[in-house]
Amino acid sequence: MTLAFSKVAIIGAGAMGRGIAQIAAQAGSQVWLYDTQAGASGKAREALHQQWDKLLDKGKLSAEAVAGHKARLHEAASLQDLAACELVVEAIVEKIDIKKAVFAELEKTVAPDAVLVTNTSSLSVTAIAAGMQQPGRFAGYHFFNPVPLMKVVEVIAGLKTDAATCQRLTEFARQMGHTPVQAQDTPGFIVNHAGRGYSTEALRIVSEGIADFATIDRILRDQVGFKLGPFELFDLTALDVSHHVIEAIYRQYYDEPRYRPNVITAQRLAGGVVGKKVGEGFYKYEGGVQQVPAEPPVPVVENMPPVWVSPRAARRAELLQLLKDLGAKIETGQSPSPEALTLVAPLGFDVTTVAVVERYDPARTVGIDLLVPDAATKRRVLATNPATRQDMREAAHALFARDGKPVSVIRDSGGFVTQRVVATIVNIASDMCQQRVCTPQDLETAVTLGLAYPLGPLAMGNRFGPDSILEVLFNMQTVYGDPRYRPSPWLRRRGAIGLSLLHEEA
Ligand code: NAI
Repeated sequence: MTLAFSKVAIIGAGAMGRGIAQIAAQAGSQVWLYDTQAGASGKAREALHQQWDKLLDKGKLSAEAVAGHKARLHEAASLQDLAACELVVEAIVEKIDIKKAVFAELEKTVAPDAVLVTNTSSLSVTAIAAGMQQPGRFAGYHFFNPVPLMKVVEVIAGLKTDAATCQRLTEFARQMGHTPVQAQDTPGFIVNHAGRGYSTEALRIVSEGIADFATIDRILRDQVGFKLGPFELFDLTALDVSHHVIEAIYRQYYDEPRYRPNVITAQRLAGGVVGKKVGEGFYKYEGGVQQVPAEPPVPVVENMPPVWVSPRAARRAELLQLLKDLGAKIETGQSPSPEALTLVAPLGFDVTTVAVVERYDPARTVGIDLLVPDAATKRRVLATNPATRQDMREAAHALFARDGKPVSVIRDSGGFVTQRVVATIVNIASDMCQQRVCTPQDLETAVTLGLAYPLGPLAMGNRFGPDSILEVLFNMQTVYGDPRYRPSPWLRRRGAIGLSLLHEEA
């Protein structure tokens, strides 16, 4: 195999530089580490040696391979030592002036055909390239932490980047065992942009008092299959990183309401309650172990009322079968009897609106989220409206918990937790395709590898049905009157024709 780059320099031997050095050396390139902080490259080299020794002990690498990797990793004392490198990867502090100064120096040092890249996650590649002598050979090469495990890299073309530069970087990414995806130079590139839906919408739900963060985490893990709830994820990434990412993307998109930050993270950041690394974030950590608040118990209900289901409930036949299986007394009349618990299953609308429009007694009306088929979820989610009586709330909770499936009862909101978060993720991803940030396929690849979602956002939209997602968004827009739920034209057109969200136009 001919390596796309056989001599690679890494500027900045911190968390990211180290990881990139590791995979480049493992691919067979000679690698030079350079850092302005005294001893930093030596420390990074030492850490990588230990890492390889561990892999040897575990039998994952041979002694010969480890010796080869170690022999290919060098330290550089100055930028001038990097003159022969064919690729220079910058992974220093996230400050544009400092990055520009380093590249200006490098342009004077390396050969004219050497490729220069930045690992920036929040700065514009085009802005860093401004003023360069040869911007055609410069690109973004955005890796994720920890680099050896997060096997995706975004290759970002600035306005003046040559296609050949991106092609070479793409080839090298594969040689390092990573999956390359191509992104336009837009705020957040692919992964950090697509990730906005999950956390931002979850924060809004908390800030509206609809459910607490632990309940939201449980719902999204159990109903959709996310490995970590949004608040567990915040605790892991830490707010001193994620809050700034949220703000940066919002500002760079000129206050686009879809990306609006939330005072909750601003306040927690100001208070130093940033996440697991300080022992407290949304959750508390004792000895590094997450402390999860207990779930509210299932109420004991002696006299279960009969149940009546709205004719307009989503997945009505499925809901009736479920009620039968749970042993409910089902009413079949045109309207609910005066004792009946009235069940509605709206998409996007709140329980209050449905009760008013369909003329039910709000005191006895409870909603259930059926965006996801009951058989496909590990949790049921019910919502009350402001007038729901306690006995009706408890009856619904107890009834749906009869077969042991966990139940969460939340307050009324346009769209339930899953509907809101899933619709927002799908909508943002659709809009990224509309903006041609990347291809639909690269979006799916980047998000599944970079964020470990159970499905790519577009596949998620297809799974629940673009028409259902559209219905959720249209109705939420009505309930909230907020442009943040405005459906992307990409989603609207494909939903209208009944086309897959992954369909690329000819
Ligand atoms: P870090 O703070 O762990 O390491 C940065 C290193 O750069 C330090 O060792 C520092 O001494 C060195 N440095 C600073 N100025 C320098 C200069 N002028 N010349 C040479 N070395 C210099 O930072 P980290 O986390 O590795 O991030 C580096 C870059 O990667 C940033 O642009 C960041 O935005 C980006 N990034 C970080 C990710 C993360 O999760 N940590 C993920 C993706 C990108």
